[in-house]
Amino acid sequence: MHNPFLGKDVISILDFDRKALEILFEYTDRARRYLNTKLRVLEGKVVALAFFEPSTRTRLSFEVAAKRLGADVIGFTGEEAISVAKGENLADTIRMLNSYANLIVLRHRFEGAAKFAAEIADVPVVNAGDGKQHHPTQAMIDLYTVRTLFETIDGLTYAVVGDLRYGRAATSFIYGLTLFKPRKIYLISPPLLRARPEVLETLRMKGIPFEERSGIEDVISEIDVLYVTRIQKERFPDPMEYEKVKGSYRITVDLLRNAKPELKILHPLPRVDEIDFRVDETKHAAYFIQASYGVPVRMALLTLILGGEL
Ligand code: NCD
Repeated sequence: MHNPFLGKDVISILDFDRKALEILFEYTDRARRYLNTKLRVLEGKVVALAFFEPSTRTRLSFEVAAKRLGADVIGFTGEEAISVAKGENLADTIRMLNSYANLIVLRHRFEGAAKFAAEIADVPVVNAGDGKQHHPTQAMIDLYTVRTLFETIDGLTYAVVGDLRYGRAATSFIYGLTLFKPRKIYLISPPLLRARPEVLETLRMKGIPFEERSGIEDVISEIDVLYVTRIQKERFPDPMEYEKVKGSYRITVDLLRNAKPELKILHPLPRVDEIDFRVDETKHAAYFIQASYGVPVRMALLTLILGGEL
């Protein structure tokens, strides 16, 4: 098999094509058989987790994935914890990690940080979120979740709701969908938080039917996959702007009365108040299943990049 991930950086989901993702999903199916096993697939390798921004799921699931595969893990979370507090720059930190590890997973608040790191490092760099721009491994998990729930990613109607301007998970999910054939994507946000021009341009270029809207109510009955996101408070340049849009959307049991029985709700988490807790008990809630796929998808990805076998 040709391995399209071997030795590669993962900066954007658009670095890969549908065929590559299908290989990743097959490896993920296999990884799910080994969730309670310690494998030796990556024995002797070191994975560095460089998280300059807060993280719960992404960091922990990368760590569990690497350890399940038998790799050693080093890393840090938060700038306070490391020498950035002493004035060290990103380039020097990356050079150092490059000499300690076989792969670097990087999260940073600056757009383009992962690409910059990849230019410096000889070892593969995996982008675990660069500012508002990309979060490709989250998109891999999201697409895998849809594929598992619906047995296909094509032909479905999607709604991506919330902060499409500053949300990197939402952005990467939309980019990921352009590698498939969705029936239609509704982009639902307050006017202030519309998807960025380059995202809309990609949709147009790839001929994906989409429509921008402000409300969910009118389209809820058409949707198969409702992808809900948090308003990214920390990325607003002006706190007053956040005040205008906070709490714009709330998915409630009442709203879902008009939904298709098979509608599934995804959310990259953490949620603030976008999804009422009562929705968790409905058959529509798929966000915890989605979060649980974080480990096997990342196991599959690390294995493929580092040339292991599952
Ligand atoms: C997302 C992120 O960090 O971009 N979280 C995640 O990785 N699951 C989404 C968010 O913070 O809203």
